[in-house]
Amino acid sequence: MINRIVIGSDHAGYELKLKIIEHLEDQGIAVTDVGTYSAESCDYPVFADALCKRIQLGDFERGILVCGTGIGMSIAANKHSGIRAACCSDTYSARLTREHNDANVLCFGARVIGEGLACDLADIFVSTEYMGGKHARRVQMLDELMK
Ligand code: RB5
Repeated sequence: MINRIVIGSDHAGYELKLKIIEHLEDQGIAVTDVGTYSAESCDYPVFADALCKRIQLGDFERGILVCGTGIGMSIAANKHSGIRAACCSDTYSARLTREHNDANVLCFGARVIGEGLACDLADIFVSTEYMGGKHARRVQMLDELMK
């Protein structure tokens, strides 16, 4: 279980992001929001980049990105070295992407899933540990694909 996380969204994910922040903070998890800070139209790659840079710097172990579908954010995040972003809309995938892929960024779409499921996905993402073992070689191979 991690006790701090970084979160970001575009305008489409803004309202759901606020709900997720409240939900995580209620559990004692410190949440840093890298924006956007309003529902005014903006460009999701800007916020994916801001969040991923904080993880690359070592400021945070994991992050959550919310846009309309979760897809644009995950595409943008996965262009960063060391970032393994997974776009999830079911709890099984959220658990397995931590256990097998050591995903360090969770993405979801505010136009795809509701608040209850989004909170469940966030809970799984912060509390599920990576299994390592046979999965470590494959995760290492992911890093090598970036070179
Ligand atoms: C914004 O309209 C929308 O395109 C964005 O939130 C996201 O869904 C992109 O993948």
